[in-house]
Amino acid sequence: MKSNDEKVAIIGVGHSKFGKRLDVSINELGWEAIKPALQDAGITQKDVGFYSVGNFGYWSEEILPAVTIGEYAGLTCGSLKTEAACASGSASLKIAMDSILSGNSDIAVAMGIEKMYNSPNGTIIELIGRAGNYFWEFENFGMTFPGYYALYATKYLDAFNSKEEDLCEAAVKAHHYGSMNPYAQFRKETSVEECMKSKYVSRPLKLMDSSPITDGAAAVILARGDVAKKLSDTPVYIESQGTATGTAYMGRRDDYTGLEASRRAAEIAFRGAGLDGVGNNFDLFEVHDCFTIAEVMAYEDLGLAKKGEGIRLLKEHQTYKDGKFPVNLDGGLKSKGHPIGATGISQAVEITKQLREEADNGRQVQVNRGRALQHNVGGTGHYAYVTIYSRGD
Ligand code: COA
Repeated sequence: MKSNDEKVAIIGVGHSKFGKRLDVSINELGWEAIKPALQDAGITQKDVGFYSVGNFGYWSEEILPAVTIGEYAGLTCGSLKTEAACASGSASLKIAMDSILSGNSDIAVAMGIEKMYNSPNGTIIELIGRAGNYFWEFENFGMTFPGYYALYATKYLDAFNSKEEDLCEAAVKAHHYGSMNPYAQFRKETSVEECMKSKYVSRPLKLMDSSPITDGAAAVILARGDVAKKLSDTPVYIESQGTATGTAYMGRRDDYTGLEASRRAAEIAFRGAGLDGVGNNFDLFEVHDCFTIAEVMAYEDLGLAKKGEGIRLLKEHQTYKDGKFPVNLDGGLKSKGHPIGATGISQAVEITKQLREEADNGRQVQVNRGRALQHNVGGTGHYAYVTIYSRGD
């Protein structure tokens, strides 16, 4: 195992307000996240050796946002845009981390950003839909993303004799914590009844089962462990990261009640961190709840619950703050919002704040083991990233 000095640590975080952000350009939105991250780390732009920008981007004003954001933010070092659909933020984290581990930089910025509302909703929904398999799914059947996840939901509800009301429990939890998060797009509690009354977007999934369209940005400052120790009293170490890919065409998958790529990424991450699974090892989880069904499948793919028992875990409130496995205490993608390229970094920001015991408004989890897990999925399971963080105690 690596010593803390040999790992990469997060030493600063920044987060923009998520929502409909027609008030700013993409560069200004990026700066809203980068500026507080630099301040938090106590460094300036000249200390940064590399920066990466997670961005899907086909709907927004700038095609080369890594360059324009960097120029606006005064970052003159090398940069790269990463794209792994909804896991583009985790890909950004990986590339920035690799630049440090390979010896090319001591300090790097990993950020993620999306300005989705630059295009009309119909265009956005079409572009996300094309992130399935274009020929077999989009061109022939006109699939949308709610449509893909509705297939999972239909299979899951049928296989485990569950109801739409059960899925709505995930929306209730998400909005409960989102209501406490000042950066969240929706800061309003909801109920199973309200969720059930919301319009179908793709049966059995309703508006309240879905993450929204969102503009937003998030940034983390990474440093090599020995450098991090000098700059920060509270570095949060990246212990391991597992990445896996699934088939492009869903018809070639074996299982429609979970994501094989998530399971493989988790196995790699656990092994890299010297753990044999979830066990009693974590204080907090950030999972990819782009739809309520995705949260339930994530519980089972990561090992928080056995197959078919995810809904029971949710209904018993075991994934609430005081439960056995606290999940998405920032409101998750569902309530905090899901600016595609920013989500993976936003999850890292939340984990860092929680492990530093700085989460606001009653969302702070009790930190006992000093360890947290992040799960970020791209496409319909095309990419999965599982990242394990610790306080390095
Ligand atoms: N949850 C709760 N409320 C939502 C919402 C959501 N996910 N999405 C929109 N709303 C609200 C809006 O704030 C708006 O409220 P208002 O009338 O009080 O202002 C209202 O619902 C209508 O919003 P609108 O944006 O016009 O909805 P829409 O029908 O065009 O789009 C979805 C709704 C769910 C279809 C769209 O947000 C979507 O496609 N989401 C999924 C995004 C996605 O696939 N991401 C990738 C996943 S990996």
